Amino acid sequence: MYTTLLTEVRDGICIITINRPDKLNALNRTVMAELDQAVAALIADPAVRGAVITGAGPKAFVAGADISEFVGLSVEEGKALAKKGQDIFARIEQSPKPIVAAVNGFALGGGCELAMACHFRIASDLAKFGQPEVNLGLIPGYGGTQRLTRLIGKGRATELIITGATIDATRASQYGLVNDVVSPEALLEKTLSILQVACGKAPLAVAHSIAAINASYEPGGFAAEIEGFGACFGTEDMIEGTAAFLEKRKAHFQGK
Ligand code: COA
Repeated sequence: MYTTLLTEVRDGICIITINRPDKLNALNRTVMAELDQAVAALIADPAVRGAVITGAGPKAFVAGADISEFVGLSVEEGKALAKKGQDIFARIEQSPKPIVAAVNGFALGGGCELAMACHFRIASDLAKFGQPEVNLGLIPGYGGTQRLTRLIGKGRATELIITGATIDATRASQYGLVNDVVSPEALLEKTLSILQVACGKAPLAVAHSIAAINASYEPGGFAAEIEGFGACFGTEDMIEGTAAFLEKRKAHFQGK
């Protein structure tokens, strides 16, 4: 179905593997278009409750946007490329179903930006993170200046972006860029196990949580939380969840 992605649904969780290992899974136009399709498809598929994004091969999650596609672009074409990349990554961030990055190696440039667009990140101890665009005479264009600053703070983000430095998984964990660091062998199972917990909860409450958390970066964040909290009172799952607690039984959520 896809030429640059592998997809598999395991126990209701879609595993998307970016599959260009000979190019360290660099994000060319085809990967970006297919990633966008795959995310749209999992959002629309009622059998899928969450997703993992990872990279093929032992070396890289994603080593960046495909640099060969930058050659000869005009200022307007550069802007259009950034806009398109930002739109695709925004769809990931705004997914009502949780999408987690399992970072198995280099997450550089667009790869770090892709990981940051996911709802959170689990890393293998081989992972390396950075925004090395300055080495190419560029700046991050797929949301990196914004999401890295939000995730690790302005001082650390500025240092990383203007030096182009790469940090290892331990440092990324200290910075709060990743939630956990595990061995490469344990990475996928660890990521799936966290997602399984979230996917056992009320799907609409998970979706409203993600939307309200995303809104924390906007002026209306607290108002968005009020809307989401209120909307949950109109769901069957909230009636079921509260009743199950009071009746001392396990809740059975339907996503309604
Ligand atoms: N775009 C296009 N091709 C890329 C790429 C990228 N972002 N990152 C790696 N590749 C390709 C290399 O050109 C090479 O292809 P080739 O075998 O046809 O020559 C292949 O992937 C393997 O990469 P290589 O550089 O040989 O591996 P390495 O282990 O020596 O180095 C990195 C790994 C990640 C340090 C190095 O590939 C690198 O610096 N990549 C670019 C990172 C970057 O600047 N990303 C931001 C882009 S905006």
